[in-house]
Amino acid sequence: MEVKAEAMLASQGGPKAVPKLGPFPSKLGREELWELIDLWDLSPQSKERIKNILNQDSHIEGPHLFRYYNPKPSRVAAAEDAMRELIGAKYCLAVNSCTSALIASYRALGIGLGDEVIVPAYTFFASAAGVVASNGIPVIVEVDDSLTLDPEAAERAITRRTKAIVIVHMRGAAGQMDALMDLAKRKGLPLVEDVAQAGGGSFRGKRLGSIGTMGCFSFDHYKVMSSGEGGFVTTDDEWLYTRAQSWHDTAACWRPDRFARERREGELFAGENYRMSELQGAVAIAQIRKTDSMLAGYRRARDLILAGIDPVPGLTFRRLTDSAGDTAICLIMFLPNPGVTRRAIEELHAEGVPAGGVYDSKVRDWHIYTYWEHVLETKSVAADGLPWSAVPKQELPKYSREMCPRTLDLLGRSVHIEINHNYSDEDCHAIAQGINKVFHHLWK
Ligand SMILES: Cc1ncc(COP(=O)(O)O)c(C=O)c1O
Repeated sequence: MEVKAEAMLASQGGPKAVPKLGPFPSKLGREELWELIDLWDLSPQSKERIKNILNQDSHIEGPHLFRYYNPKPSRVAAAEDAMRELIGAKYCLAVNSCTSALIASYRALGIGLGDEVIVPAYTFFASAAGVVASNGIPVIVEVDDSLTLDPEAAERAITRRTKAIVIVHMRGAAGQMDALMDLAKRKGLPLVEDVAQAGGGSFRGKRLGSIGTMGCFSFDHYKVMSSGEGGFVTTDDEWLYTRAQSWHDTAACWRPDRFARERREGELFAGENYRMSELQGAVAIAQIRKTDSMLAGYRRARDLILAGIDPVPGLTFRRLTDSAGDTAICLIMFLPNPGVTRRAIEELHAEGVPAGGVYDSKVRDWHIYTYWEHVLETKSVAADGLPWSAVPKQELPKYSREMCPRTLDLLGRSVHIEINHNYSDEDCHAIAQGINKVFHHLWK
């Protein structure tokens, strides 16, 4: 029987049943663009004008917001390039937070069940939580008057289980990188830099995040650079970068041949999804480009405020390991005792000075180890009790709220002055005068 041409299978020369589909408009169009524009505080007139322009445009084709397989150059990849250049590291990986950056780094370094990681007693909880999320055991160590990890205390805390040291550059300023790099080298341990609070800062001319084995950055709203949420991992080590990529995208979209077997033992394992979206990437690039001018604003304001503060007996400042490299997002002073510190903060508030305390035993705060009950009390997400149950009880760190008395003493005597990179000369002068007024009064 003769088969009509149109009934022939396409594979046998017949016409295709579906000759063409699309092109269809992208899912993202004017509505999504409008929601983004509406995030900005534009005047109602400007918003109206933009809305009119958008409504007049008959064809609005939205972006591809997934970084991989993107028909256009990826903004996330461009942000990685910009960050790599800014920080001066060979490799840079964008992720969706610094918590993710820390976990991807810990995992890349091979930290696993029962491995100990040294973390400072003063840091946002994520530096320690990331260790537990990697099935490791955080070992909590004192900070000193730089408010960063004390290298000697870190050395004393090293055991046969120690697999890494984490230096957290707290409140904008570098830790003691010389001593810590020396310690890490002598002990053959990787040094992870948590740069969440000091993005763009440096130590002796080298940007933070380019000195240790791996650097972890936050781009959440409260950091020097922000894309709402976001983070980066930096390293000079190609293999660690590859393994961090594996952890950050278990779908392996980052690979040249996504579904191929691993090219080298240890390249592939079951990871998570920490990918950064193109929306975050676009904002991050603009922020990275602005970093040095924002830092210049912070530093200028810090210098003006500092120059205006009168010396008073018993008032000291947080020790800076490199004042030129300090991001200057704040000024931290130590007062003689917690009582006078609390009183000073109240009076500074009343004067309108943007001051706060760092530690008050009555105020809960995830930046201080005493409130990490989920670590101190060895809490577990599951009935298996991991990671704590992986280690004989007598070999676990001796956690207690009293374990780092020097940290609590320093933090309890700290007055924190917030700096904004937009402060005018008058703002700086007024803040310095407010500080002088309160301190002269208290010391009368
Ligand atoms: C020192 C430190 N590490 C890590 C993080 C976690 O950053 P993210 O919010 O991007 O996860 C923060 C955030 O506050 C932080 O301050």
